[in-house]
Amino acid sequence: MLTTFSTDIVVSPEPPARAAADWLVVGVWADEPYTGPAADLVARLRESGDLTAKHLELVPVLNPTGVAAQRLLFVGLGKPEGASRATVHAAAAAAARLVTSKKVGTLALVVPAPALTLAAGVGLVHGAQGPGVRKTAPARFAPDRIVLLNANPADLPRVRAEARALWLARELVNAPPCDLYPESFAVAASDAGRASGFAVEVWDASRLAAERMGSLLAVAQGAARPARLALLRYTGNPGGPVLGLVGKGVTFDSGGLSLKPTDGMVDMKCDMAGAAAVLAGVQAVAELKLRVNVLGVLALVENMPSGTAVKLGDVLTARNGKTIEVLNTDAEGRLILADALALAAEHTDRLVDFATLTGACMVALGTETSGLMTNDDAWGDAVLAAVTRAGERAWKLPMDASYDGLIKSKVADMRNTGGGRWAGAIAGGKFLQQFVGGAKWAHLDIAGPAWADGETPALDAGGTGCMVRAIVEMALGFGA
Ligand code: BES
Ligand code: MN
Ligand code: ZN
Repeated sequence: MLTTFSTDIVVSPEPPARAAADWLVVGVWADEPYTGPAADLVARLRESGDLTAKHLELVPVLNPTGVAAQRLLFVGLGKPEGASRATVHAAAAAAARLVTSKKVGTLALVVPAPALTLAAGVGLVHGAQGPGVRKTAPARFAPDRIVLLNANPADLPRVRAEARALWLARELVNAPPCDLYPESFAVAASDAGRASGFAVEVWDASRLAAERMGSLLAVAQGAARPARLALLRYTGNPGGPVLGLVGKGVTFDSGGLSLKPTDGMVDMKCDMAGAAAVLAGVQAVAELKLRVNVLGVLALVENMPSGTAVKLGDVLTARNGKTIEVLNTDAEGRLILADALALAAEHTDRLVDFATLTGACMVALGTETSGLMTNDDAWGDAVLAAVTRAGERAWKLPMDASYDGLIKSKVADMRNTGGGRWAGAIAGGKFLQQFVGGAKWAHLDIAGPAWADGETPALDAGGTGCMVRAIVEMALGFGA
């Protein structure tokens, strides 16, 4: 069902000009002297104006002289002053997109500086992955082999782990909902745990009922596919604190009885991107054997309308005993996360959740930036710093008591919608906050960045793998 990432990634000390490869990708800085392979060629291309090295510019050269590789691809890195993990990652990804539109054996990359090995190496794999199309004639080919030149060999394990994790997350998001549903997602989680060295426990519907997960089960009750909850446990620091990661895993969001129109429903296979990020992030942490403990909780349901579906006006009791008035069945993410967060908060006091929760967050911040909401400014800032270090983007939204009214209900402890048009992302955050007890918690609303409607220079359309790299940074920074 999911394609696996089987590209062999290696580091080589050989001089770039001598590397035998189908393609040799070389980054060029704007307005900087060039000292890499084929320097004469670069000088001529600059002279003629064909190579300006502005960020993401691509200049392929077939049958070049002066290098052993069969083809050369220059990629613009922009000015070094503006360079970051994100810009170098994007440049490598853009180069990979050009190269991998046809079959390629060996793809060699000259890392612009050894300190940029992670950005360049992971970016290259990011761009080499397609949108998961089921066409008989594929349009994207992962290379057989990636050779990183001028690279820091110490970064190779992290390049491999993050590349594999990004690949897994995007495969999961891109998989059609006929293939990926709560049970098959849980199987994918168990498979990943077995292969990468973390424990996975799966709860079925009867266990979920026994565990009093009434809010999560209410969302699932309209669907033919039963709910699952997957608990991922990685112990790299026995006896130490635990980082709790909770993911929204709605494998298809029709809206339920509050049915979405076709335009709003068409991409709702992406509504499990939070759970995909958590699974992939834990996989990377486990493969890197980081000195940290992680508990991942994946809340897996389908949100469907039917004769058994949860109704408007229904009142649910969540695991922590709080009651919820359902006023819109399309605000289902917070209902499943309520129980998942309450469960996670029983095991650790430091939580982050990842959820494609609200269209309102996209209205506020656009498609590239996640909304960050927290009940603890220091913890929220630490999470934000990890996201930024990873080259990803988030922005803090206010969560003070002036927003408490957004979730007030006449008949229950809270209602599941804000009731009006305003502050929809914060209403979601305020709702989730009711389930974290005394834990320090941050909520990342990834509705914008999780999914790309169209292709960009750096990435094919579809699942983006957002927050996978951020989770690795969170784990590296945890307790440090
Ligand atoms: N999964 C959606 C949010 C979403 C929208 C994700 C677009 C990605 C792209 C979520 O379950 C939803 O439907 N939210 C509602 C909440 C509302 C009913 C309070 C929304 O955003 O309209
Ligand atoms: Mn919804
Ligand atoms: Zn949803």
